[in-house]
Amino acid sequence: MLKLFLGLTLILVIVSVLKVNQKEDFLNRRHLELTKEDPIGNVNCTKIIEGDIEEIEKVKLETLSVSFKKRPRLTTNDYINMTADCASFTKTRKYIMEPLSNEEAEFPIAYSIVVYHKIEMLDRLLRSIYAPQNFYCIHVDKKSPESFFAAVQGIVSCFDNVFISSQLESVVYASWSRVQADINCMKDLYRRSSNWKYLINLCGMDFPIKTNQEMVEKLKALKGENSLETEKMPVYKEVRWKKHHEVIDGKIKNMGIDKQLPPLSTPIFSGSAYFVVSRRFVEYVLESSKILKFIEWAKDTYSPDEYLWATIQRIPEVPGAVSSSDKYDVSDMNALARFVKWQYFEGDMSKGAPYPPCSGVHVRSVCVFGVGDLNWMLRNHHFFANKFDVDVDPFAVKCLEEYLRHKALYL
Ligand SMILES: *[C@@H]1O[C@H](CO)[C@@H](O)[C@H](O)[C@H]1NC(C)=O
Ligand SMILES: *[C@@H]1O[C@H](CO)[C@@H](O)[C@H](O)[C@H]1NC(C)=O
Repeated sequence: MLKLFLGLTLILVIVSVLKVNQKEDFLNRRHLELTKEDPIGNVNCTKIIEGDIEEIEKVKLETLSVSFKKRPRLTTNDYINMTADCASFTKTRKYIMEPLSNEEAEFPIAYSIVVYHKIEMLDRLLRSIYAPQNFYCIHVDKKSPESFFAAVQGIVSCFDNVFISSQLESVVYASWSRVQADINCMKDLYRRSSNWKYLINLCGMDFPIKTNQEMVEKLKALKGENSLETEKMPVYKEVRWKKHHEVIDGKIKNMGIDKQLPPLSTPIFSGSAYFVVSRRFVEYVLESSKILKFIEWAKDTYSPDEYLWATIQRIPEVPGAVSSSDKYDVSDMNALARFVKWQYFEGDMSKGAPYPPCSGVHVRSVCVFGVGDLNWMLRNHHFFANKFDVDVDPFAVKCLEEYLRHKALYL
């Protein structure tokens, strides 16, 4: 009886110590909240995330005000200055420097991030996905200004697990160089560590809509499968890889010359530049002679990023691939990789549109999100959404990062 009593007491003591520890953990995390950070206006982000129409209208008015247009901005020089003292940089910018859970610590993710400008967006993207167990390769465009490059160097110098790609490309829109930038980072990341489980590629205008913990849970559930858009190639896009293209004066041109057929028995599929792929997929891409031949063949085509990954994902022997049968097509909405609002698909969902209209502005038919886009977007399964821009709607970025940080720290 006494033994039972002592046993129960011991259990009670342990449970209460654990509870106190958890509470202390939560108190210790308070300094990492982003809610008190640089107010750029009087906006209630809780209401924005809830989709409160009055609050969304208020923000739209705010962005028209003079004081808003004159708000202070962080420049490349500010970053060069701030990162001279790394301890102070990671603290004042509120980077999370410890894994938030064991589950996350044991499931590192690798990132390939292709950027060319907007240093503040890069910093805010990085801190919203940063975890010490992950790996981040940043590809800076060769054409980027020296000051931008120096600012990125400053940021990466503050982390052991963030680095600039060892091989830099001059990235030309819709040309092979866009894919090569990702491949360069893939190689670096693959060599850098054998610990990471999945690779995700990003650009400077992406922002997460899931926490690292949520991504880890979903990646585990994939059980080695990849998640990316891969669909039947529309006939009008075939010219992109049936004709020889060349980059002339920084622009890609159809030279009107027929190309050989692709060196594959799998047909060419259509998709996007963005993927969520397993480490074994990356290994296969880097080492298979079949893929290397396909890559060589693809180098003089238009926008190879929008078919290369989609096609590799349908080659039978590729790790995590799916059948090339139509029945296995995966749309952008069904893939985890990226949520994008294309202008010509936006509309009334009760009439069959895949998503509601853009609340921000359009750039080349793609929505640059405003605060009004967040509520619906956050109910989707995607890991990342594109495009966000602090120059278009800084409140959208701010409310999103506050929301994710709160979720990561306390939920
Ligand atoms: C923001 O809105 C929420 C939900 O309506 C409310 O509970 C909260 O008190 C508001 N916060 C501020 C600072 O006004
Ligand atoms: C950064 O800027 C501050 C304020 O302008 C200045 O006092 C400081 O010396 C600068 N630090 C470096 C390393 O340049």
